[in-house]
Amino acid sequence: MKKSNLAVSIMIACFPLGILAADVPTETPTPKPEMIEAYQTWKNTDYSIGSPLGGLKGNPANGRKVAIHRGKGNCLACHQMPIPEEEFHGEVGPPLDGIASRYDEGQLRLRIVNMQELNPGTLMPPFYKHPDQFNRVSKKYQGRTILTVQEVEDVVAYLMTLK
Ligand code: HEC
Repeated sequence: MKKSNLAVSIMIACFPLGILAADVPTETPTPKPEMIEAYQTWKNTDYSIGSPLGGLKGNPANGRKVAIHRGKGNCLACHQMPIPEEEFHGEVGPPLDGIASRYDEGQLRLRIVNMQELNPGTLMPPFYKHPDQFNRVSKKYQGRTILTVQEVEDVVAYLMTLK
């Protein structure tokens, strides 16, 4: 028997014993923790969060998309907004037309991040509440905020265009 064939025979013989198991990938990889973005802390100062989360710059065009998206902001479920191409606009919350002339950027940021800071019983979802502070969390949101930090800044930038 050639040397290489002997090695193969030994490998085959050992296989049922699980000796090779360490080298054989058996499971599909689970998402690595670094795929969940680091939480950016914020502070409610006089009902406002003055600086952008993570120092990020918001993109208003993407913020508009996040606001429409049913699985993200879904703002239209509860608010009338100047988004004529979408048919259904809810009336659970106040209309958001002209919202930037009623609030400044920091006040809007707090309202998106966590409306519960202003009204603990609000129906509006806390879009950037710390994941550990949610009571019941579906698997999809475990360890995550409802919106990413960039999406929060994008929505704030979009609301700032509603003068
Ligand atoms: C499930 C319903 C719901 C959803 C979804 C929702 N909101 Fe609200 N929102 C409310 C309610 C209700 C209020 C009134 C404030 C309160 O609850 O005390 C409110 C208030 C606000 C206010 C303050 C308005 C004012 O005139 O004082 C802003 C700004 C706002 N929402 C933005 C948003 C944006 C942007 C989104 C999407 C990213 C969103 N909301 C999603 C229910 C909702």
